[in-house]
Amino acid sequence: MSRATAAFIADGARILRAGGLVAFPTETVYGLGADATQGAAVAKVYAAKGRPSFNPLIVHVADVDWIGDIALPDERFHALARAFWPGPLTFVLRRRSDTKVTELVSAGLDTIAVRAPAHDLARALLHAVERPLAAPSANRSGSVSPTRAEHVIASLGDKVDMVLDGGPCRVGLESTVLDLSGLTAAILRPGPVSAQQIGAVIGPVNMSDASDPSAPRSPGQLASHYAPGLPMRLDAAHAQPGEALLAFGPAPPGAALNLSPGGNLIEAAANLFAMLRALDDKARYAAIAVMPVPEAGIGIAINDRLRRAAAPRG
Ligand code: TXA
Ligand code: MG
Repeated sequence: MSRATAAFIADGARILRAGGLVAFPTETVYGLGADATQGAAVAKVYAAKGRPSFNPLIVHVADVDWIGDIALPDERFHALARAFWPGPLTFVLRRRSDTKVTELVSAGLDTIAVRAPAHDLARALLHAVERPLAAPSANRSGSVSPTRAEHVIASLGDKVDMVLDGGPCRVGLESTVLDLSGLTAAILRPGPVSAQQIGAVIGPVNMSDASDPSAPRSPGQLASHYAPGLPMRLDAAHAQPGEALLAFGPAPPGAALNLSPGGNLIEAAANLFAMLRALDDKARYAAIAVMPVPEAGIGIAINDRLRRAAAPRG
């Protein structure tokens, strides 16, 4: 790490300890960070994002051993954390009643979401602050998550005290959210770590379906989410007049951008949000049409985000 980077991290840590907001990169998307032990700081996160107060936040930690002060983990958590942490897997656990983490992050639930990001800058910042950081994606609530520092500055620039620039995020899609607060493990948000990968460690996992009212719910499972300003059309074979075509794999002539010309899902995930932002231009297009993406591996998470981006806006 360069001297300049180390100095920025020290500044960021000072701002966070003083109750300010610092956006920082993770391997998934940029997070809008606040000291999770300060209620006033976490309240600023909700205000900056325009986030509904019923939608809880993820608490970021540097290591597994930070969890004991925050939540009540079980064997399933430890086995999965050994396999996937640091990394893009968030656990919803039962909250410790005596934790110093503010209740605001849980938005009234008796659970708490925790994740250890796999990113050197994020980890260095956590170690410098020496406190867990509440950090939702650093975008206005409901819009597309930021995968570059420029995206954060464009949507929240005047509301954050500092943006740490770590370049483009490697994974590009938000973490898998896995609910371990009950007896049956349930995926509340599909992401980079698949149900199969989780199942290989702890056995069968439920897929919580946002359209099924009896399924366990993540308050963040709103039908419309991750939405660009323009209307979206999915499973498009080609563009209709006025549409920007976002291709996947071999593309028809006139495609505006291609998630992955070679049909690689990992590359497509890393490109998705930046390309949606690039095409979200009312001056040039009337809508964004997206070619089909295979429902396999991280393609499941890509399609989840695309369906929400295309859902009727609330
Ligand atoms: O990759 C990520 O997870 C990124 C980076 C910054 O870590 N963060 C992120 O945070 O995507 P956010 O706030 O945009 O999404 C968090 C999701 C929401 O859907 C929220 O409802 C859910 O996690 N969540 C948080 N706490 C929860 C809880 N106690 N119970 C159920 N769902 C929870
Ligand atoms: Mg978000």
